[in-house]
Amino acid sequence: MYTQSMSVPDEAGSRTVQPLALSEPAERMARFDACIDADGRIEPQDWMPEAYRKTLVRQISQHAHSEIVGMLPEGNWISRAPSLKRKAILLAKVQDEGGHGLYLYSAAETLGTSRDQMLDALHSGRAKYSSIFNYPTLNWADVGVVGWLVDGAAIMNQVPLCRCSYGPYARAMVRVCKEESFHQRQGYEALLVMMRGTQAQRDMVQDAVNRWWWKCLAMFGPPDSDSPNSGQGMRWGIKRVSNDDLRQQFVDATVPQAKVLGVSLPDPLLKWNEERQHHDYGPIDWDEFWNTVNGNGPCNKERLATRVKAHQDGAWVREAALAHARKQEQRRMKEAA
Ligand SMILES: [Fe+2]
Ligand SMILES: [Fe+2]
Repeated sequence: MYTQSMSVPDEAGSRTVQPLALSEPAERMARFDACIDADGRIEPQDWMPEAYRKTLVRQISQHAHSEIVGMLPEGNWISRAPSLKRKAILLAKVQDEGGHGLYLYSAAETLGTSRDQMLDALHSGRAKYSSIFNYPTLNWADVGVVGWLVDGAAIMNQVPLCRCSYGPYARAMVRVCKEESFHQRQGYEALLVMMRGTQAQRDMVQDAVNRWWWKCLAMFGPPDSDSPNSGQGMRWGIKRVSNDDLRQQFVDATVPQAKVLGVSLPDPLLKWNEERQHHDYGPIDWDEFWNTVNGNGPCNKERLATRVKAHQDGAWVREAALAHARKQEQRRMKEAA
């Protein structure tokens, strides 16, 4: 889901893409540019500038990490879902996120990086993932709000990625977006049920919305004026809509949904601007955003430790699968001999 961090660097240091090396062969470069200009697709076997490849590896791997770390806040609630129906829905949703991670790791591997390299970067803390997953899901209303707002923000972000210039990424996003749509609806529907319940349930929903709203707005990443890589990403057809435009689309789409739900959004400056034909909204706390992106949010350490443990606990599965594959290969060779 969750492309916020995909426009931030993995490690401290330069926040701008390196300029293209002058030694890139002019002819291949011209062919690449022509393909981009014609809104074509770059495929794994095609030549591409090193900076384009690096940008995609960073973005797709951060996206993949976000999907699998994103399983954790809601995974905590599978054993505590209020009914069998809610448990089945949540299980399906969390499994979808695992699947999204797998498609995206596979897409990134076509660019010449390995699954081990990407996971090592995540587990050692060098790689980023979406900051939104470093906040806790305190009660069942949080699970609904994550579906409604976090997956809702993800859809805004990811629909344009279906038209990304890199073929394997664009194709992976088509199915991901369909599943994200189900995630958003299941969250919204769970909240509608709570809002028709007791006053205590309505209060829980409002409290969860208050805690998640601003963090969801920050998911779209820094303002365009502070996103040095965005221009190049747009030029390459990787990014199709700017952070601020996506954020505005999200606000405009969410306001009427909040009204139907019967909750208020915690922003006194939120109001319709007749002239712009959009909603105005208040300032976002970017210090908090960067603090969380840089590892100091409330759950960063817990999320990473859980991920590393899950990876270690799964070592025997990977070993068994490799041993099985070796055995099959030996059998095939014997039969062929
Ligand atoms: Fe997802
Ligand atoms: Fe999702």
